[in-house]
Amino acid sequence: MTVRLGLIGAGAVGARHARTLAGFEDVELVGICDPARPAAEALAVELDVPRAEDLESLVRSGVDALWLCVPPFAHGELELAVVRAGLPFFVEKPLAADLLVARRVADAVAAAGLPTATGYHWRHLDTVEEARMAVSGRPVRLVDARWWGATPPSAWWSREDRSGGQVVEQATHVLDLVRLFAGEVVEVVGAAAPSSAEGRDVADATAAVLRFGSGAVGTVSTSCVLPALTAAGLDVVADGVSVHLTETGLRIRTPAREHRTEPSVDARRAVDRAFVDVLAGGQASPGLVDVAEALHTHQLACAVARAARTGATVRVGDGERSPH
Ligand SMILES: NC(=O)c1ccc[n+]([C@@H]2O[C@H](COP(=O)([O-])OP(=O)(O)OC[C@H]3O[C@@H](n4cnc5c(N)ncnc54)[C@H](O)[C@@H]3O)[C@@H](O)[C@H]2O)c1
Repeated sequence: MTVRLGLIGAGAVGARHARTLAGFEDVELVGICDPARPAAEALAVELDVPRAEDLESLVRSGVDALWLCVPPFAHGELELAVVRAGLPFFVEKPLAADLLVARRVADAVAAAGLPTATGYHWRHLDTVEEARMAVSGRPVRLVDARWWGATPPSAWWSREDRSGGQVVEQATHVLDLVRLFAGEVVEVVGAAAPSSAEGRDVADATAAVLRFGSGAVGTVSTSCVLPALTAAGLDVVADGVSVHLTETGLRIRTPAREHRTEPSVDARRAVDRAFVDVLAGGQASPGLVDVAEALHTHQLACAVARAARTGATVRVGDGERSPH
């Protein structure tokens, strides 16, 4: 069976997904669309795929599903139109720049019962599964997550109302794993170091304390003032074992041993493969994060961002029905 796919958003990440999908024997890319016509054209020529004018023309060409790789501010109407067309979709993280749009999209997807997947690819790392096994049966007491890096060059990133800010746009990957290891966070307090850069209202740094439903506690910190990514990952402390996990490595320490390993899975490819398998009628891989599950991570990220911005104590999920 060949799965017919269309791509919307031919920027850095859209191009990565398109190249991956074009390499799958059971996928036919039938169109690439982007309001920036040169971006769509360059990728379409590279992959020998037609450029599509808009969503409607992709739908008319008879796609089985769409890959939506647009910036955080561009979500909402796009997904609602895709749902109205009755099409399954893969969407890049974060679900939106805020919580209201993400909730509206998640509600529409749930009502339509469509399969979805999101760009939370870290869950496909085999090291994540190994780390989970290491803490299995041992209560997690503490997590410490971080994303310390540079300010990305895209103009939209530096504007909090466009990107959602660094917690929502970047640290969301590690917050997704925080949930996987320690369960749901109920309450967040935080603080932010305001931007020192002209043209950027995204904070220089944020720090927050998390209180979990289980009674565990955690911390999360971000900064975008470094020349490059220097630390992105999390540490997990459970009874008798600690785990240090990044996208490229895992260290597990117990009193008896220290074990270091690297992933043997290309998670960025695996996330595309897993959703194509679903579209082809196969089983959903346990690593797949659908829109409903991604909403929980987005709720946490928005709570951390809001707590850091306002200094108030924020309950996760607050602001869902009114602007945050
Ligand atoms: N999963 C990951 O590892 C990962 C890594 C980087 C970025 N991302 C996410 O992918 C998304 C895109 O990031 P990027 O780095 O590719 O950004 P980018 O700025 O390089 O590209 C975004 C593209 O979307 C297009 N676009 C803007 N508005 C649109 C709209 N309304 N409809 C269709 N296309 C539109 C732009 O013209 C641009 O070509 C972001 O949400 C980002 O957080 C995910």
